[in-house]
Amino acid sequence: MKIIDMKCVKGFMQLAQDSVDKGWHEMNGGNLSYRMTEAEAANVKKECKKPTSDWMEIGGSVPKLGGQFFIVTGTTRFIRNVTRDPANAFGITEIDATGTKYRIWWGLEDGGRPTSEFAPHLRCHEIRMEKTDGANRVIYHCHPPAVIALTFILPLTDKAFTRTLWSAMTECPVIFPEGVGVVKWMVPGKDDIARATQKLMATYNCAIWAHHGVFCAGATFDKAFGLMETVVKSADIALKVMSTGKKVRQTITTDDIKKIAKDFKLTLNEKFL
Ligand code: 13P
Ligand code: ZN
Repeated sequence: MKIIDMKCVKGFMQLAQDSVDKGWHEMNGGNLSYRMTEAEAANVKKECKKPTSDWMEIGGSVPKLGGQFFIVTGTTRFIRNVTRDPANAFGITEIDATGTKYRIWWGLEDGGRPTSEFAPHLRCHEIRMEKTDGANRVIYHCHPPAVIALTFILPLTDKAFTRTLWSAMTECPVIFPEGVGVVKWMVPGKDDIARATQKLMATYNCAIWAHHGVFCAGATFDKAFGLMETVVKSADIALKVMSTGKKVRQTITTDDIKKIAKDFKLTLNEKFL
């Protein structure tokens, strides 16, 4: 099957377009990656016959991902061009057996390279793969204004963000019962921020980067996008309420959150109750 006709490639492009439509991607802001199944990787090898690059350094080490194939957006390439010019905007890469190098099989034309956040993506893939018995395949990063704005006014703690988001929209504890994690401001694209995010992703499907953006994980493109959409919407509501400057008369209380958990049979993260 042609690369562009593969279901996972179509899902990748759909998420990119939906996210651009949401206004979460200025310029080259944000990036997306997907861990292919063995059958999908086999199709890439059959269709492309040989890699188009030599092995190159990842800038971090992800030994558990050795031999895996990833679809990934290109650094400096615009997410809005994922659907317009696929082979230029993203590509398919293979990780070597040691988990320290990658090579390109398809796309990333005109000298393209994977996102500068490849190390955080791969480290998040590694931990989410482990924690979900291989179910999680998508890591998605974007720059949504409401969440970034909140990082200027809330304490940069997992608890402050989780409680604010859980209390702003009733469905939130259902969608992310484990809560969300927060990474203090750090230089992006480096292994330090990758490690800090990986640590949070051992518990959470969502990590917020102060003054920068959000990383979400999911088993499918729909799930990763849906989680991002929920976090962003809840942050938007919280921010709008705060921006009125009015006294908050009522909110979703801890007791209310516990009632939701009981009814929906959720295991909420006890740390935040
Ligand atoms: P890339 O263009 O390298 O993907 O960087 C965009 C970004 O969002 C950095 O955090
Ligand atoms: Zn970013």
